[in-house]
Amino acid sequence: MEETIRFKLNDREAELVTDPNQILLWVLRNHFGLTGTKYGCGIGFCGACTVLIDSEPVRSCMIPVSDVAGKNVVTIEGLSTGEKLHPVQQAFIDHDALQCGFCTPGMVLTAVGMLGKNPSPTREEIVNGLEDNLCRCGAHVRIVDAVKDAAESMKGGNRK
Ligand code: FES
Ligand code: FES
Repeated sequence: MEETIRFKLNDREAELVTDPNQILLWVLRNHFGLTGTKYGCGIGFCGACTVLIDSEPVRSCMIPVSDVAGKNVVTIEGLSTGEKLHPVQQAFIDHDALQCGFCTPGMVLTAVGMLGKNPSPTREEIVNGLEDNLCRCGAHVRIVDAVKDAAESMKGGNRK
């Protein structure tokens, strides 16, 4: 049976009538048109579908939309402020930390969630924090450089 689900999506109130078991990834992509959230494996393994739910990185392919009722969901489309990119997005550009870009939204949002908890991570902590996000293009070294740089830049109060 369908239900009305209400939550915050990229700082706006969102509402839809749907099967509550509908997977969040497909709701974001098909209902809201937010195709920055990628479908990689569909089984919680690759991290391409990561979004922030109440500031925590979560794999949107693994949860029903009913789980986000009353919560705050941030996708890659909601991370920048107007024309200004989030420092992690900017650092990915500055370090050329992508090739095909398929893993990038999930990587960026996982990094943002990690920096929210640990603003000054060591290189090892960044590697561990991103370990479960796969990049088939092998951009890992540049990704870690970018996150380190973003952490430095955010220390100066540049946090979005
Ligand atoms: Fe969700 Fe791979 S698509 S973890
Ligand atoms: Fe292609 Fe990471 S940049 S998968």
